[in-house]
Amino acid sequence: MSSISLTAPRRLRGTVHVPGDKSISHRAVILNAVAEGPARITNFLPGADCLSTIACVRALGVAVEHEGAEVQVSGVGLRGLREPADVLDCGNSGTTLRLLTGLLAGAPLFAVLTGDASLRSRPQRRIVAPLRALGAWLDGRDHGDRAPLAVRGARLQGGSYALPVASAQVKSALLLAALAGEGPLTLTGQIASRDHTERMLRAMGIDLHVSPEQIVLYPPTHPLLPYPLSLRVPGDPSSAAFWWVAAAIHPDAELTTVGVCLNPTRTGALDVLRAMGATVEISDERVEGSEPVGNVTVRSSALRGVTIGGDLIPRLIDEIPVLAVAAACAEGDTLISDAQELRAKETDRIATVAAGLTALGVSVEPTADGMSIVGRGGPALVGAELHSHGDHRLAMAWAIAALVASGATVIHDPEAVAVSYPGFWETLAEVQ
Ligand code: S3P
Repeated sequence: MSSISLTAPRRLRGTVHVPGDKSISHRAVILNAVAEGPARITNFLPGADCLSTIACVRALGVAVEHEGAEVQVSGVGLRGLREPADVLDCGNSGTTLRLLTGLLAGAPLFAVLTGDASLRSRPQRRIVAPLRALGAWLDGRDHGDRAPLAVRGARLQGGSYALPVASAQVKSALLLAALAGEGPLTLTGQIASRDHTERMLRAMGIDLHVSPEQIVLYPPTHPLLPYPLSLRVPGDPSSAAFWWVAAAIHPDAELTTVGVCLNPTRTGALDVLRAMGATVEISDERVEGSEPVGNVTVRSSALRGVTIGGDLIPRLIDEIPVLAVAAACAEGDTLISDAQELRAKETDRIATVAAGLTALGVSVEPTADGMSIVGRGGPALVGAELHSHGDHRLAMAWAIAALVASGATVIHDPEAVAVSYPGFWETLAEVQ
């Protein structure tokens, strides 16, 4: 395990091309694997998580050519998938494990899916229970709540399910399983989460109806997606958010992120930064493929504390570590609630974020479903020794904190950024 030592730069300036969106990159490979024919994906995120997806899809007999940010997937339909000869290793990626488990629940094969220690500790009953209710044959450790998960493709029914948590991974696992169902699937309850799967399935010819109350998917007559979807993956707002916060908290900063996905299910961090008083400018808004994109410029700002909870949480769940850094530099208190899902991420991000902020000299109180943070009234953190705990978003949040900390900040295990942002450290050096 290595470490990196950072000190605060005098200024931050630059234009950043953030890498392709992680959620959309996964889906582009998984959905095109069961389409009828080839698709070309550009600006694909070559992060470790999405590479796990490519490796798993190849192990299922799908030809995937991959070089840098360009990927070609030659779809075979659900019935064309091959039984994998070995366990499917999803690495650190919950999206890979959950979406593939859903897809394979109705495929004619047996597979075992596992991952690293972090992924094996995360809850899976949230997909296992509803998939079983559709007729899936699934099992795993802890009565199906932990990976490794075993799945033997079965005849699936349609039905209806009320989602108890706002999770796009659970929603997507069910929608993918429903492609092989014998009747329509209706999802109700907490359906408001990132909607890339819904957008892409529709673009690929699936009869899918979305209203604020429900999602209804009518399975195709053959379990394949009629139209392969070639696309350019938009920039990842969850990666851009590090630069937005960096620019907002640093006293001499202006950073522009270009070509970022501005899907409203993903832009909660921008809403919060604006509410905190940040200067945010959006330009060149356009639609690329199924998604709205644009450029986002943020400048040095005097921030004030806010409350973050309710419907906002699913729109910024992955950005909470870095928003907590923004809150630490604000005037006044910030209260984050309704975010108990943070405890089920790559680390328990309520515990790990609170511990890191405390080390940075911030007064923070973790709660069951969030935390309260006493802002230090400006860019006044105390350099500290911090750990990523192997969690990519923690490594990057601590790097942004270091930009406004006195003295040196040492981050252990900084390589974790490779999960979602392989070029992060290079870009950090470029904007100083
Ligand atoms: C993701 C959904 C979110 C998010 C994760 C990616 C996705 O997880 O935290 O980083 O691609 O569907 P949940 O669906 O578990 O909330």
